[in-house]
Amino acid sequence: MTETQSAPSARRVALVTGGSRGIGRAIAQALARDGLFVVINYQNNRAAAEETLASLGGPQNGRLLPFDVADEAAVDAAIKSIAEQEGRLDVLVNNAAVAVDGLLLRTKTADFMRVINTNLSSVFFLCRAASRLLLKAKESGRIINLTSVVGETGNAGQVSYTSAKAGLLGLSRTLARELASRGITVNAVSPGYIDTDMTRSTLTEEMRKQLTAQIPLGRTGKPEDVAEAVAFLASPKAGYITGQVLRVNGGLLIG
Ligand SMILES: NC(=O)c1ccc[n+]([C@@H]2O[C@H](COP(=O)([O-])OP(=O)(O)OC[C@H]3O[C@@H](n4cnc5c(N)ncnc54)[C@H](OP(=O)(O)O)[C@@H]3O)[C@@H](O)[C@H]2O)c1
Repeated sequence: MTETQSAPSARRVALVTGGSRGIGRAIAQALARDGLFVVINYQNNRAAAEETLASLGGPQNGRLLPFDVADEAAVDAAIKSIAEQEGRLDVLVNNAAVAVDGLLLRTKTADFMRVINTNLSSVFFLCRAASRLLLKAKESGRIINLTSVVGETGNAGQVSYTSAKAGLLGLSRTLARELASRGITVNAVSPGYIDTDMTRSTLTEEMRKQLTAQIPLGRTGKPEDVAEAVAFLASPKAGYITGQVLRVNGGLLIG
């Protein structure tokens, strides 16, 4: 132990990227309820991140760690801070993402690269930086990546977002194979249409009605619907599940 290191946390520790709002907040809440200490990442929205932390019961159950997931050096520094402060990392939830929508011919290279870097390169940076800590967690180690139904089906007007989300499926399956011998599981959770800022900012009321009509369970999802799937995969109960995609979409995509 160096001078800056504290004794390792007695509790399992999770890092949830994009934990300030939406699905990430609900995941942080579900993991804290299940007894984990939750490190809550966000980029800009400090007030929302503080609300998340307060909803977990405050600093005894988590802490805030703002950084840009697309910035490789910032990711390395963030994982170093977890090694020094919590001394362990059991669960990495790669949830942070952005959507910049547009048809192919109208998509600017800079927007495409921003989405790929934020939604896909970030997960590579985080998994690589966190792998040494996760290896120490052994059978307790979990990586859970948030993909999307549209990463599986494609979606007109979302070339960058769907490319990144489809890429996450390959990354998750490869890491599941690489890390299985160490007892670490790697899975993807694939939500359908969930009510958050992301969908509220891109869907009109008319589009929302049309989408809801296509969902067999007859409603859009809540962040908590997705969070319970993540909490299950993070739990010891899911220790024999790896390399899988758990869909939480109300039946929108079946089979
Ligand atoms: N909502 C849906 O219908 C849906 C469907 C399928 C999949 N998903 C996936 O589920 C995940 C969560 O989506 P959501 O709807 O909850 O999104 P959201 O409400 O838009 O929240 C996005 C979160 O990501 C954070 N974030 C964005 N860029 C970041 C960056 N560069 N560095 C660090 N944090 C960053 C935001 O932080 P700030 O608050 O600081 O901005 C915020 O906490 C995403 O991976 C999304 O693709 C969502």
